[in-house]
Amino acid sequence: MTLASAGSTWEQLRTTACACTRCALAGTRTQVVFGVGDPHAALLFVGEAPGRDEDLAGEPFVGRSGKLLDRLMFEEIGIDRSRCYIANVVKCRPPQNRNPAPDEIEACRPYLEAQISHINPAVVVTLGNFATRLLLESSEGIRQLRGSVYPFRAGHLVPTYHPAYVLRAGGEALAEMRADLVRAKRLMAL
Ligand code: URA
Repeated sequence: MTLASAGSTWEQLRTTACACTRCALAGTRTQVVFGVGDPHAALLFVGEAPGRDEDLAGEPFVGRSGKLLDRLMFEEIGIDRSRCYIANVVKCRPPQNRNPAPDEIEACRPYLEAQISHINPAVVVTLGNFATRLLLESSEGIRQLRGSVYPFRAGHLVPTYHPAYVLRAGGEALAEMRADLVRAKRLMAL
């Protein structure tokens, strides 16, 4: 399936995604969490998958991780979530917040690919291992991959930690995530 090349509009893409039954998560979700923000933004954040709060709200990163993401985005980049776009690798909540399975990531991949094509961001910030490995097509871990900027489509990709990890790890991880967001901000100004 190539949703972007099929010429679908953003609203068609959202409608298709919101009715999706391509994987088993369709049977357990409350709703599809398509994404939030400005689909014309220069900055795209990509997380992992909705959790319980997001499944209920229909919006990515509304729980504790999201509060941290909002705070760091404001403090280091100077924007709120209406001025970027936030999406996930997988659009439906995996039960018990387990990791998304490879077949679920593959089934959902065309939606993320199409979102990226529509948004055409100057900078993509990947949050954690799943988004980073998928978009960089790498099997390295986030600790190895973060700290650098990677060419990505017409722009750049900046990998950083998932905010849930930073909430647990604190200290150095928090400082490193801040530094990654500063890196993203500088790239947007280019
Ligand atoms: N974690 C994610 O990766 N995405 C969300 O939307 C919420 C928590």
